[in-house]
Amino acid sequence: MRPHSGHAHRRPRDPTPATPTDGHVTPPPPRPPRVTRSCPRLVRPRPPPGHAILPATRLATPTFGPRDPAAGPPARPLWAPPPSVLVPAREPARMAAASRESAPLGLVFERLFLAGRRLPTFPWTRLEEKLKNSSNSTLLLDILQKTVLHPLSVRHPPSAKYARCFLAELIRRHESAHAEPLDELYEALARVLTAEDSPQCHRSYLLPSGDSVTLCESTAIVSQGTTGLVTWDAALYLAEWALGNPAVFRDRTILELGSGAGLTGLVVCKACGPDVYVFSDCHGRVLQQLRRNLGLNGFPAGPVGSAPSPGPGPRGPRVAAVELDWARTTPGQLTALRPDVILAADVLYDPEVIPCLVGVLRKLSACRADPSPPEGYVAYTVRDPRTCRLFQAELDKAGIGWETIPSHRQTLFPYEPHSRMGILKLSL
Ligand SMILES: C[S@@+](CC[C@H](N)C(=O)[O-])C[C@H]1O[C@@H](n2cnc3c(N)ncnc32)[C@H](O)[C@@H]1O
Repeated sequence: MRPHSGHAHRRPRDPTPATPTDGHVTPPPPRPPRVTRSCPRLVRPRPPPGHAILPATRLATPTFGPRDPAAGPPARPLWAPPPSVLVPAREPARMAAASRESAPLGLVFERLFLAGRRLPTFPWTRLEEKLKNSSNSTLLLDILQKTVLHPLSVRHPPSAKYARCFLAELIRRHESAHAEPLDELYEALARVLTAEDSPQCHRSYLLPSGDSVTLCESTAIVSQGTTGLVTWDAALYLAEWALGNPAVFRDRTILELGSGAGLTGLVVCKACGPDVYVFSDCHGRVLQQLRRNLGLNGFPAGPVGSAPSPGPGPRGPRVAAVELDWARTTPGQLTALRPDVILAADVLYDPEVIPCLVGVLRKLSACRADPSPPEGYVAYTVRDPRTCRLFQAELDKAGIGWETIPSHRQTLFPYEPHSRMGILKLSL
């Protein structure tokens, strides 16, 4: 027997959909970049010849300044080498040994850093313990290679501020365990000091196949009046579930509602073999960034609303990005899409949008002419249980069946460990 919700309560609309102003309209949790303490003050300009980067035994504050002649020859190297040698060329055996020695911790740092997760969620204490028990720097060099110097970071840079704060913290942890500063960390820091801050950054999500999804995202969780310019935890959770259930998607036509930055769909396209994947959203800026992200990952979509274009390789899915506002869809638009599977992640954040979201689902169900109705999967973060119950009550009213999918164990994507998330399977 299907579970039933209690009464759904409605509250007045909050003007900013994802702002935590009342108990009913609660936002997604804060996103990076943020650190437990303020970022160190970092001076941008490269020092002129004859000036040194002063060794910082407590690098919360790397500073540049003229060398004190009375101090004698510098114990540390003068300013950073040119960029071409900033990535130290190390003999493979040494790096391989470093990788072996530090694989688990290095991999944790890699996933967290590439996905731009909040710095307090990194295992700093574990790192510090390891550093204290080690007489060499292989672990730190390995972490450096897997984060700031990772090929994905080099090609698609993270936020400069985030990289600076990360390196400053790494240096601080290292120097609290070892008195001797490590040149490579300063060289990496010097590189990011010259990088411009931007309201956009790249975040990369590693897949079990060794492939990855790289997205251009906003550094702010809400920007340009939308929450759709960053990846939310429910998108990661749904993508993780999809990776464990590829048969749901194989050779089928998928429609995603409220795609945002595109993480879920790109994971499905790369790993689950759909025939057609239609990304959709209502916000112009989101659609623009979404198309850019599809291109970044080898799925060039035509202009918004154009027919699905073939993906990479003969068997790649055809993808499209369409403007689809739940409040304004027409039956004609939905009939043309004819999805087998409907996906949506983190679209239950505002009780005010739920009736029109359910309205679209009802129309999608009605416009399928053939006997096999589409199925839907809606992933959500529980911020206020009443919002979830309201969604369930609206589904009941619309005659749409639903069940809760058993939760899966987090294994792959670095979402917040304490988020409460779920997926509803809908029978339309
Ligand atoms: C919290 S974001 C989630 C984005 C993405 N699914 C994720 O989880 O990372 C909500 C998304 O729903 C979209 N959205 C909100 N109201 C919508 C509507 N009426 N029609 C279509 N999309 C809408 C927003 O533009 C935004 O991209």
